[in-house]
Amino acid sequence: MRKPKVLITGASRGLGLAIANALNDDYCLILHATKTENITHLKEGNYILAADFSKPEEVTAFCKELKAQHGDDLYAVINNAGINVSKPLSFQPEREIDNAIQINLKTPIQISKTAFKIFSVKQKGVIINMSSLVADTGNAYQTVYSATKAGIAAFTKSLAKEAGALFENNQIRAISVSPGFIETEMTAVIPQIEQDKLVANIPLKRAGKADEIAQVLAFLISDKASFINGSTININGGVL
Ligand SMILES: NC(=O)c1ccc[n+]([C@@H]2O[C@H](COP(=O)([O-])OP(=O)(O)OC[C@H]3O[C@@H](n4cnc5c(N)ncnc54)[C@H](OP(=O)(O)O)[C@@H]3O)[C@@H](O)[C@H]2O)c1
Repeated sequence: MRKPKVLITGASRGLGLAIANALNDDYCLILHATKTENITHLKEGNYILAADFSKPEEVTAFCKELKAQHGDDLYAVINNAGINVSKPLSFQPEREIDNAIQINLKTPIQISKTAFKIFSVKQKGVIINMSSLVADTGNAYQTVYSATKAGIAAFTKSLAKEAGALFENNQIRAISVSPGFIETEMTAVIPQIEQDKLVANIPLKRAGKADEIAQVLAFLISDKASFINGSTININGGVL
């Protein structure tokens, strides 16, 4: 039997790579990165679809390719690719603000839209969007980043409701995942003194591992999580 297809954006490293590792046995993966050559793992039996999401024309082409190549048997999409921006707002030029919104918010919305149209035919499918703890808590110097992540959580919740409003036999689920401080390249650039402060604020007194996010994602896209819909799932070691 053919395995169901799952798109994972940002699958070259960090959380996306850990998610790909967790799903590889049970699904046929469509692995995304900015460039084809950035996908160095799990290439066999899977597909690669590259695009730089900072460029709107590449996002449009990516969505078209996704529909054309995989529209018939797409089971789930995981919008994981993202960039962090840690900078005082006063020093953030407009083009950086636009870029963060383009990559972290507009692109997942466009990919979700493409997936939603595909899923509408069978009224079945799963969309998972990557939010962040700071969407809830806010954080100094992450104003725009946290806004994009709060936006994606609200979008996801509304999309779950929209599927319910549109379809009589709705089995389309949309969920956002909100990690806290997880060890990846994205957080490796945080100065050690700041990392120590973040860890001190986590009741489990450590940063999370990428696989601890990936295992939850594997559960969420499976039928075992068939009644989880519209929620934001917090994975942060107990930060409340
Ligand atoms: N790590 C954390 O503590 C944490 C906490 C909360 C939320 N998150 C969220 O979780 C997601 C993954 O984070 P991570 O820590 O795994 O990040 P990461 O290690 O920096 O990896 C980022 C991924 O996004 C892709 N990407 C970056 N810029 C892109 C662009 N312009 N176009 C297309 N793809 C692009 C990268 O692809 P290339 O390799 O090709 O550049 C890479 O695969 C992000 O949405 C992040 O905001 C992370």
